Amino acid sequence: MKKKLIAGNWKMNGSLAANETLVKGLLAGLGAPVCQVALCVPSVYLAQCQALMAHGAMSLGSQDVSQHEVGAFTGEISAAMLQEFGVHYCIVGHSERRQYHFESDVLVATKAQRVLACGITPIVCVGETLAEREAGRTEEVVKRQLAAVIHANGCCISEVVVAYEPVWAIGTGKTASIEQAQQVHAVLRQQLQAASNQADRIPIIYGGSMNAANAAQLLAQPDIDGGLVGGASLKVSDFLSIIASAC
Ligand code: PGA
Repeated sequence: MKKKLIAGNWKMNGSLAANETLVKGLLAGLGAPVCQVALCVPSVYLAQCQALMAHGAMSLGSQDVSQHEVGAFTGEISAAMLQEFGVHYCIVGHSERRQYHFESDVLVATKAQRVLACGITPIVCVGETLAEREAGRTEEVVKRQLAAVIHANGCCISEVVVAYEPVWAIGTGKTASIEQAQQVHAVLRQQLQAASNQADRIPIIYGGSMNAANAAQLLAQPDIDGGLVGGASLKVSDFLSIIASAC
C-alpha cells in the first residue's frame, strides 16, 4: 500500500517568527510518521524552512514555479532555483492561480514539466467551480485539466501527485461529501490508468476545507491517498491531528 501524503499549503501566510513556532511545533509532535508530510511555503521562506526542517520527517514544498527555465522574467522563480533549496514538491495549477493569474491548462502542464525536469514532484491541482458542478460538468472539467498534464508529460505522469480540489470547497468551510470526493477521485484514477500502467502508484489527494474533524473519513476512501490542507495546516494541533488520521 502506498503511503498517504499530507501536504500543508500555507498560501500567503506566515512570518519568520510564526513559521519557526509552527515548524518546531510540528516537528516536536510528529515523531516518525508512517505517512509522508510536506509543507508548501511562500518562496521567500524556503531557506528558513529548509533549515528548520533539515533532518526532520517533513519535506519542503513550494506553491508555484515559473513556466520558463531561465532568463528575463522579472519576479519569477525557476524550478532549478527551487531545487537548490531542497524543494521536493511544487503545487501547480492551484485554483487561486488559475483564477487570479489566469493560468491555463497548458501553462499548468508546462509548469509540471519544468519541475519534473528538476526532480521535483508536481502536485497538480484540478477542480470544478460551483457553477460547473451545478451544470453537471464536474467530470468534464477535471478530466480536461488532467488531460493537459498527461499530454505534456507522457510517461512521466507516474511521477506526479494529483490533487482534487473542488473550488467551491476551498477556504469556505464546505467540504465535498465523502461520496462526491471519492467519485471524482475514481474518475481521475481511471483516467490515469488509461494513460499509464503505473497509475496505481500516483497519489490522488483531496483538498478543500479538510480539517481535524473530517480528515479520517475522507482519508478512509479507497481512492483518496492524502490531503492538501490550507487553513488547517497553519495550526499545529489541527495539522497533527490530520496527519494522525492518515497514519
Ligand atoms: P483549505 O485550502 O484547506 O483552506 O480549504 C486548501 C487549498 O487551497 O489547498
